[in-house]
Amino acid sequence: MKILFFGDIVGKVGREAVHLSLPRLVRKYGVDFVLANGENATHGKGLNESHYHYLIDSGVDCITLGNHWHSKPSIDDYIDDAERLVRPLNLLHYEHGFGSLLFEVNGIPIRITNILCQAFMREEVEHPVVSLQKLLLDNPEPCVHIVDLHGESTSEKQIFAYEFDGLLSAVIGTHTHVQTNDARLLEKGTAFMADVGMCGDPDGVIGFEKDSVIRKIVNGQSGAFQLNDEAPMMINACLIEIDEETYLPKSITPIHQIVER
Ligand SMILES: [Fe+2]
Ligand SMILES: [Fe+2]
Repeated sequence: MKILFFGDIVGKVGREAVHLSLPRLVRKYGVDFVLANGENATHGKGLNESHYHYLIDSGVDCITLGNHWHSKPSIDDYIDDAERLVRPLNLLHYEHGFGSLLFEVNGIPIRITNILCQAFMREEVEHPVVSLQKLLLDNPEPCVHIVDLHGESTSEKQIFAYEFDGLLSAVIGTHTHVQTNDARLLEKGTAFMADVGMCGDPDGVIGFEKDSVIRKIVNGQSGAFQLNDEAPMMINACLIEIDEETYLPKSITPIHQIVER
């Protein structure tokens, strides 16, 4: 079984990059299940309902979120009905939606869980390790289990991955929007990558138009970060091949491409 995981989709360029590249990658690699992090899909922050449906209609089977899960508050209006949307499991003050979802593909159970890290994050969350330990205790049935671990610190993500090595199919980091060159199988078999990267403008600052970021951060001018909807389209993803007997991975392969319009 092959699972394709797209990193944080940033704005229109990111959405179109996934829309255009997804069918080609699914055909090329024989992908069975597609995951994407959608926390930046709507104008760079959050995910509105129409973009949720756009990505699902484009072929994404499950969308995960992150610290921007609630940047578009209208998510409250649809999150309880969004059966392919996973928000962070360990949020302490948010009850809506799902922190982990179980799917079935060709008779194989696939669980997708989204966890928010603590370092450099404002959100109040349960400790990531404790939160996942509870989930595993409540759901002991064997399955393919992919965790989208959303955080800034590569060391925090490594610690988490070692803690659950052999118990999860893969721990894939998101949030930094920069793909790390460390995809590998850990000692007990779990696939790990500290950050899968992003889908969006490769010439910006983590997906935002660079001059608008420089004006604000360096020159202290007011105004929001802008997105360049005409920018080149980059996708960052990874392909995880899963052994259908053990539910552990055979391989993890990073993908980094510029998508032609
Ligand atoms: Fe992000
Ligand atoms: Fe994030």
